[in-house]
Amino acid sequence: MTDNTTDTTILQQQVQIEAAITRLFAAEDEGLKYALTAAKEAGLPQIAISPMQGKFLQVLAAACNAHKILEIGALAGYSGIWLARALPPKGRLITLEVNPDHANVVRNSFARAGVADRAEVRVGKALDLLPQLQSEAPFDLVFIDADKPPYPQYLDWALRLSRPGSIIVADNCVRSGGAFQEPQDAGMAGIFEYDKRIASDPRLVSLVLPMDDNYTDGFAISVVRY
Ligand code: SAH
Ligand code: DHB
Ligand code: MG
Repeated sequence: MTDNTTDTTILQQQVQIEAAITRLFAAEDEGLKYALTAAKEAGLPQIAISPMQGKFLQVLAAACNAHKILEIGALAGYSGIWLARALPPKGRLITLEVNPDHANVVRNSFARAGVADRAEVRVGKALDLLPQLQSEAPFDLVFIDADKPPYPQYLDWALRLSRPGSIIVADNCVRSGGAFQEPQDAGMAGIFEYDKRIASDPRLVSLVLPMDDNYTDGFAISVVRY
């Protein structure tokens, strides 16, 4: 057997394992499927998190007893639906989205998924909206998934708007390993700096976990220490 055949077999195994886990733990209902279809039909990029990542966000929300969740970067509302469904009846999700067309899709998706009572999209640049959220803090869980260059600034805001025991998650913190090399562009520089900071910030306990795109990308997870 050549090395290539071995690689192919391992890749096939990974795909099958992920499919089996997704079937058992993270099956999508009509609401989640609608958000993906709506995104496609509106010509939005197909860069939502995976079902396993959605379920993982729900596990993390349960772990920190999340009543208030903040998301930065909504797209079509797919990750927002997973997050909103992890909330108790009086819980609240606020998601920030710079593109008004995306925000319209999000509102539709939230209504179709039955979470419009708990989930709200605010339109604007995240760095403009975040300072206005201080009266609504602390957030129990913050999910960062917008433009990549300001990831370190989003981390500063997540720390400001959270409490001991809050969980801060950021998507796209592996990037085929590019996140751990000398960055070649502003986006990678943002992620490189983000990973470096959460790895050594004494206020946080953190890990990056490859989980998406056949284990070539994934979340950075940080718990704010007591
Ligand atoms: N979390 C979504 C995917 C988000 S894609 C999901 O998994 O379903 C990134 C989104 O961030 C896009 O919709 C983009 O318009 C938005 N975005 C980019 N820059 C932003 C900014 N500065 N402030 C707020 N949103 C931004
Ligand atoms: C891109 C952004 C994302 O948030 C993602 O999960 C995948 C790709 C991008 O901008 O290319
Ligand atoms: Mg992402």
